[in-house]
Amino acid sequence: MKDVSTLVARQYEAFAYPQPFADLAEEISNGYSQVGDPSLYGPVLWPEGRPPGRLKILAAGCGTIQAAYAAFMNREDEVVGVDLSDASLGHERYLQERHGLSNLRLFKGDLIDVAATGQDFDVILCTGVLHHMADPGAGLAALRDVLAPGGVMVLMLYGQTVRTGVYMLQDAFRRIGIEQTTAGVAQVRRILKELPQRHYANDYVRAADELKHDTAVVDTFLHPQDRAYTVPQIFDLVEDAGLQFQNWVDNYLYWRNGAWGAGTAIADAVDPLPPREHWAAIEMLRQSAGMHTFTVRGVDTDLAIVDFDQGDWRGFVPHRGPGLFRKGPALFQRGYYQLKALDLEEFVIEAVDGRRSIGDIIGLPALADIPREERDLFGQRYFEHLWKLGHVMIALPPR
Ligand SMILES: C[S@@+](CC[C@H](N)C(=O)[O-])C[C@H]1O[C@@H](n2cnc3c(N)ncnc32)[C@H](O)[C@@H]1O
Repeated sequence: MKDVSTLVARQYEAFAYPQPFADLAEEISNGYSQVGDPSLYGPVLWPEGRPPGRLKILAAGCGTIQAAYAAFMNREDEVVGVDLSDASLGHERYLQERHGLSNLRLFKGDLIDVAATGQDFDVILCTGVLHHMADPGAGLAALRDVLAPGGVMVLMLYGQTVRTGVYMLQDAFRRIGIEQTTAGVAQVRRILKELPQRHYANDYVRAADELKHDTAVVDTFLHPQDRAYTVPQIFDLVEDAGLQFQNWVDNYLYWRNGAWGAGTAIADAVDPLPPREHWAAIEMLRQSAGMHTFTVRGVDTDLAIVDFDQGDWRGFVPHRGPGLFRKGPALFQRGYYQLKALDLEEFVIEAVDGRRSIGDIIGLPALADIPREERDLFGQRYFEHLWKLGHVMIALPPR
């Protein structure tokens, strides 16, 4: 068996990922963003408050865009990008020059050797990479060794349920001997068209818009090294590496609120469960998480946990989830997710500005006619609901 990193590097030389684009500013103005970016997701990365000063950010396995995007979005911070693939780094370099990103440095190498840079990092972004390593736990431990005290990692690993059909096809394509070439991609596309409607891969294929790009077909169906995780397997991976799971970057897929309302059989069954069991059960009931994006901290960090029953929820400061906008009367949208909101709900969403606390919002003069107890109950439960939907992020009051 060839060394896994060599095989993986070969793939990303021939099919650099993701599909490159020419101009960050243009893409961002058309709505492009990366989940977990420190400039957009501050309250998720640091519920206790963003540390002051210039951050050192590592994009480990940066691919074609991530390091340049991070440098573009976080101009005051220093970004280091590391990748196995020259082709990917070449595009990062192109974006660096195009946008004059003097805060970006790029290195070719295996993230397992990242300690050799002699630096540690306040933020480590590693998305879509560890699950391609022969030993993801060893990769995560290597990143842990360069995480600065109090630092945070944003990780993305594949989710098992949604990818079941993908692994069936990977197995078949390996046996058939389909190669990572343009001809191989064309053969995959022809085979996909002939699958039965009920094939487990079909939901995935319909939803994955990126499969229009050859590089995504290779990355999805012809990868030499690829595994996926359930929610409990993520906790094990993180804890075995001597780290702590902090939170999901987007809560939407993990709480039942996005799919089942109060009073449904599923809500009644999962609401009493502790969060980790709730998320694990929802993953299996909902079958929607193809990617798990989450943050982890070192064991030195005293985690600040958002809990609307324990915490001083009136002091929580809600921030709009990145991309949330008003689509029309009584309707908001964030990515694919829609939110209907009536009257009072609409009013409080509009009042979220990243500065006012929940207590400030429900204390606004426009709501003074509502009896205090009713207002409190609404504020506590509706903001909890919005947070469980990922439509708001919560910054916690100082401890
Ligand atoms: C699927 S792409 C993800 C790129 C980027 N992180 C993103 O989210 O868009 C995986 C990238 O990780 C790189 N990679 C895989 N294994 C690596 C390793 N052991 N060390 C460094 N880079 C690695 C590949 O070369 C490829 O560019």
